[in-house]
Amino acid sequence: MKTFSETTAILNQAPENEPERQLYFIDRCREILLEKAAEKGRDLTACVNTFGCQMNAKDSEKLIGILKQVGYRIKETEDADFVLYNTCTVREHANVRVYGRLGVLKRYKDENPDMVIALCGCMMQESEVVDKIRKSYRHVDLIFGTHNIYKLAELLFRRLTEDTMQVEILESAERSVEELPAERKYPFKSGVNIMYGCNNFCSYCIVPYVRGRERSRKPEEVLAEVERLAKDGVVEVMLLGQNVNSYAYDFPKLLKKVSEVPGIEHVRFMTSHPKDLSDDLIEVIRTTPKISRHIHLPLQSGSSRILKEMNRHYIKEAYLSLAEKIRTRIPDASITTDIIVGFPGETDEDFEDTLDVVRKVEFDSAFTFIYSKRTGTRAASMPDQVPKEVSQERIERLLKAVSETASKRTGLLVGTVQKVLVEGLNEKDPDYLTGRLSGNSVVHFAGPKELIGTFVSVKLDEAKGFYYLGSLTEQED
Ligand code: 5AD
Ligand code: SF4
Repeated sequence: MKTFSETTAILNQAPENEPERQLYFIDRCREILLEKAAEKGRDLTACVNTFGCQMNAKDSEKLIGILKQVGYRIKETEDADFVLYNTCTVREHANVRVYGRLGVLKRYKDENPDMVIALCGCMMQESEVVDKIRKSYRHVDLIFGTHNIYKLAELLFRRLTEDTMQVEILESAERSVEELPAERKYPFKSGVNIMYGCNNFCSYCIVPYVRGRERSRKPEEVLAEVERLAKDGVVEVMLLGQNVNSYAYDFPKLLKKVSEVPGIEHVRFMTSHPKDLSDDLIEVIRTTPKISRHIHLPLQSGSSRILKEMNRHYIKEAYLSLAEKIRTRIPDASITTDIIVGFPGETDEDFEDTLDVVRKVEFDSAFTFIYSKRTGTRAASMPDQVPKEVSQERIERLLKAVSETASKRTGLLVGTVQKVLVEGLNEKDPDYLTGRLSGNSVVHFAGPKELIGTFVSVKLDEAKGFYYLGSLTEQED
């Protein structure tokens, strides 16, 4: 352990500007950790466990990049010297899981008292959560939020030099630092943030409170990042934002430009809010084969009355006509969605409206959720919270309806040859590969692992509900 005056001197000498300041702390952490590794006579390891959405997955790549630079060897299991949970709080269930696992980590720490346990992400932006951890989970070492992930090395340095829990939660984003090292999970594909935060305040949703107001990155900055990724071997990017349609510059134009970056063969994007999906966007997708034939368009509910209570700014008929427009103009595009059942006050009749939209739009697939009450949101104080059994019964009926439409949609492509990006070995059978279609469904087929990270043509032999079985073909698309 460094002496107090050594630590103070290091802190005083830290550069003010970013990213220099974080690079400085990366070096200081590395010195300390090298010493510790020598003492122990082994590598120090770190494990990052990511909960929740694509945004968190992207943040975790940044966090892992920093952890590798400070000298940790990354491993998959939690018996590590540094364990970080990048948390989600969109539904209560995710929080419960984190508390449960913190109990398990305590046992690891009893065996390895030098272990550092860190928590970050959306759940940490809730003050009740941080209070509870300070009080009841004293074995946690480091807590930070969504707005300061770039400061991991600085916070870790503080924890390594002071023997107390370090907590830093910022209310809003002072800045974002994009220039730090990141470690991509896949060498050939990458998410790219085009905006952060959300201004929509859907009445059930906690995201605007934990991710802050919308901030769009400049198109030049996004394009420069995509160019860097392409030079580094990335062939597919996914542009990420809570609602890409409210990107402050011109989203369709950005999408087109990204698709024109040399080396980029395919571009995906997530998520589109139905209230402001423009004709321009549909047109750019229609006319640009490199853009994914997939629109994720969260419905949330099919009842206009509930949609109003949800503050979604569209009615059932508007959603239906938008879906119809997409189906007509881009017939090969898949439409996927998110649906919540059991929102406060949802009646059988409201739920029937949701089923009606599912059947009319014929979603290619859907994420379905039981409404979860989130403290601080407007819906949390609404009357008529729906009993659990009712929501459970509705979600089962909904799942059945979705699997019927999904089967129907996947059935349409059976027998065709599709270009797919080979993402990896099949999880169950390593002689099989798994590829993803432009429309986002996956296909399993026999093939050599050397094809991972490339685009190949696959004949879709059989539809299995949400996925396909296929075979490699020589045929070009
Ligand atoms: N309860 C259930 N589902 C929710 N979602 C967001 N907030 C809640 C909540 N309180 C769902 C929405 C959103 C997806 C990411 O999570 O469907 O689109
Ligand atoms: Fe939440 Fe609505 Fe924003 Fe999506 S658009 S993150 S559901 S508030």
